[in-house]
Amino acid sequence: MRRYKTEGTKTSSFGTNGRINHDSSKFYNSRLYKDLNCNRKPLKETNSFPKNYLNKIILGSCTNMKKIPGNSLHLMITSPPYNVSKEYDEDLSLKEYLELLKESFTEVYRVLVNGGRACINVANLGRKPYIPLSDYVSKIMIDIGFNMRGEIIWDKASSASPSTAWGSWLSAANPILRDVHEYILIFSKGEYKRDRTKKELQFKDNTMTKDQFMEWTKSIWVMKAESAKRVGHPAPFPLELPSRLIHLYSFTGDIILDPFMGSGTTAIAAIKAKRNFVGYEINEKYVNLANKRISAL
Ligand SMILES: C[S@@+](CC[C@H](N)C(=O)[O-])C[C@H]1O[C@@H](n2cnc3c(N)ncnc32)[C@H](O)[C@@H]1O
Repeated sequence: MRRYKTEGTKTSSFGTNGRINHDSSKFYNSRLYKDLNCNRKPLKETNSFPKNYLNKIILGSCTNMKKIPGNSLHLMITSPPYNVSKEYDEDLSLKEYLELLKESFTEVYRVLVNGGRACINVANLGRKPYIPLSDYVSKIMIDIGFNMRGEIIWDKASSASPSTAWGSWLSAANPILRDVHEYILIFSKGEYKRDRTKKELQFKDNTMTKDQFMEWTKSIWVMKAESAKRVGHPAPFPLELPSRLIHLYSFTGDIILDPFMGSGTTAIAAIKAKRNFVGYEINEKYVNLANKRISAL
């Protein structure tokens, strides 16, 4: 039988239509990439996770997660407090608020294994001016040393209740944009690829179908928002959000962290997907709510 050698595509000045065995070395060797802090190689060694904190929500601030050893868990999913006077928010200045996020995500960097992922759901705020919180958060994560993998636009579609502050109704005088989307920012600590040891290969499995993979690797996700009233927390995300991220970015048996656990949605998604969880939550009322939701499973 005659074999035909297939040539892979290369980065070209005109772009390429499809990508087959794509050689992107020209792009990554360009000056654009030279100054990026993206070659950090954290230790490959992992530490075992303390059994007494496995599948527990710890009452306390995630700015200090000293109960969790470094390099001991695999995926972080969270939606941080928005500091916009929700019931649980403190009235911090923007600088103080970003400092809180930086402290928390520096701890997240410490506890993730090499190759571990961090996914942050965040919405931009206000109008006069618009605060591009997602940009600030990406910058903080890159400064900490995370490698950015991409960002997902969460299209809240018809479930979003966009503001009716039109600015100027049917007039170009001052029309105001009404956000019906949020972001999910995705990062890796160190390597982009998650390694599984020979032993882990025996029990750490993938859990998504081809159709799910094809859909979830697209950068726009359409998902309905969750009702605060139904859950009993001012800002829960829908179960589908951590569920998709867990199936896409982790293996069974992995440990998933939510440092701002709220009503426990990430924990519920982890249990349903045969993963473990650990969380921090500063408000005892929400720790109790989360534990109640988990026990009801
Ligand atoms: C946006 S909510 C998370 C909601 C969660 N994703 C859910 O589905 O219920 C943020 C949570 O972070 C908590 N929080 C605020 N500051 C914290 C801190 N320093 N450490 C841990 N939790 C904190 C708040 O009490 C609130 O429940």
